[in-house]
Amino acid sequence: MSDVEDLKKMAGIEACKFVKNGMKVGLGTGSTVKYTILELGRRVSEEGLDIVGVPTSIATEKLALEVGIKLVELSDIDGLDVVIDGADEFDVNFQLIKGGGAALLREKIVAQQSKTMVVVADDRKKVTTLGMFPLPIEVTRFSHISTINQISRLLDCEVNLRMEDGAPKITDNGNFLADAITGPTILDPIKCESDILNIAGVVQVGLFNNMCDAVILAGSDGIESLYNPSGNLV
Ligand code: A5P
Repeated sequence: MSDVEDLKKMAGIEACKFVKNGMKVGLGTGSTVKYTILELGRRVSEEGLDIVGVPTSIATEKLALEVGIKLVELSDIDGLDVVIDGADEFDVNFQLIKGGGAALLREKIVAQQSKTMVVVADDRKKVTTLGMFPLPIEVTRFSHISTINQISRLLDCEVNLRMEDGAPKITDNGNFLADAITGPTILDPIKCESDILNIAGVVQVGLFNNMCDAVILAGSDGIESLYNPSGNLV
């Protein structure tokens, strides 16, 4: 296992401390939270942990079922206790860029329905200003080139249609994805989110503002639990 993979595993497992019997748990998407899901599955089968999960992607749904986590529909329950998810970047105010794994729409829906959000990350994800990671934006397929051009004019930067195997990447929701190459310039992520959402062809943007309550951060010196002073876990 590579060093980075070790860090992802450490963070993913540590975040399970937020999950207790009887909880309704949002299950994020990505290579870090994968370790959270594996550990929760282990606790379900070996320790009788009693939880239900709501997955944020088809890939996570498959993994969760494989490891024996009982799943429910978000619409069938009254909110979640906690969602654990990865991030592509987080800043000092606990604002996030997400969507590198193409799951941002369901991730944001699930995060909005959860009392608390815990992010699992390795220390490459911590930034001063958001935007070095290309900002993922889910767009409708209808007239997507016009939408991408609108985003590009708004942000004054290159915006690329995300491709996979020579064709546009299609999300779990049947939409396309655009990645905006802003560079580390997103000084006001709340305004940026709102401006992008004003474009009719935009379905959702991977800026997750005022949602994250804690980051479980793994670095070469070990694990740190960072709590958002304005969040719900302090
Ligand atoms: C999925 O769409 C993303 O938001 C992921 O949560 C994010 O890209 C972090 O993924 P990794 O843990 O794989 O870096």
